[in-house]
Amino acid sequence: MSRVAVVTGGTRGIGEAISVALKNAGYKVAANYAGNDERAKQCAEKHGITCFKWDVADYDQCVKGIAEVVAKLGPVDVLVNNAGITRDATLKKQTRKQWDEVVDTNLGGCFNMCKAVWDGMLDRGFGRIVNIGSINGQAGQYGQVNYAAAKSGIHGFTKALAQEGAPKGITVNAIAPGYIDTDMVAAVPPNVLEKIVARIPVGRLGKADEIARGVLFLVADDAGFLTGSTMSINGGQHMY
Ligand code: CAA
Repeated sequence: MSRVAVVTGGTRGIGEAISVALKNAGYKVAANYAGNDERAKQCAEKHGITCFKWDVADYDQCVKGIAEVVAKLGPVDVLVNNAGITRDATLKKQTRKQWDEVVDTNLGGCFNMCKAVWDGMLDRGFGRIVNIGSINGQAGQYGQVNYAAAKSGIHGFTKALAQEGAPKGITVNAIAPGYIDTDMVAAVPPNVLEKIVARIPVGRLGKADEIARGVLFLVADDAGFLTGSTMSINGGQHMY
């Protein structure tokens, strides 16, 4: 029987690579997305992945979205909280709106989605949750107090929830990607990005597939003793 996996922000960037890797490994995949219908259509057509539209920052939409996934594909065994946004600005220029949007989506979304699948996982005595944090949640980043706080929050959330899930067959882990070749990183000003890449010992940006590889490892049925951990996949940029 195929396990059912939900990947938030699963139709492009790192999320798309995760959705595809899970599908290729035999999972029934539901790729969630918030706004880009065109990219979701391409993802569905190209990979044959079922896409579902809802905003992870909205609690009610998450509950409704998961109910739709369950009705279409079956109970959710695997959740990958990947959806994330940036609104980079120094504290001096950052608005309350930029703070709220990032915290509500990146960290609030993680809470909303875990709530939506948690009872089902408890009932069935099995679950695999992977939360996508960031090197910038571990080390901080100039111009990202909102993003770094939200991603750092994800790492704490993961360790707390892992303790609740451990006796119930549910593992909760995080991955902290470094700078990966995606639209999000492409939006970093080139002069800033150049300096960042120069500090990556491996000497290049990461590939989305290299994050997906970590997810597959963490969600495996035989990874039941692996919980509460953070897997850093960052080309050696931050050894933590
Ligand atoms: N450290 C120290 N000083 C810095 C700095 C840094 N990293 N970056 C910029 N500065 C300085 C500049 O040198 C400049 O100084 P002066 O005024 O003395 O010349 C000052 O800060 C202002 O810099 P900007 O002109 O760039 O200011 P801005 O307001 O136009 O933009 C910014 C600021 C939005 C933070 C911009 O620098 C930026 O986008 N930086 C990239 C932030 C980043 O790395 N985001 C990661 C996105 S990808 C991601 O988040 C994925 C993931 O998980 C890894």
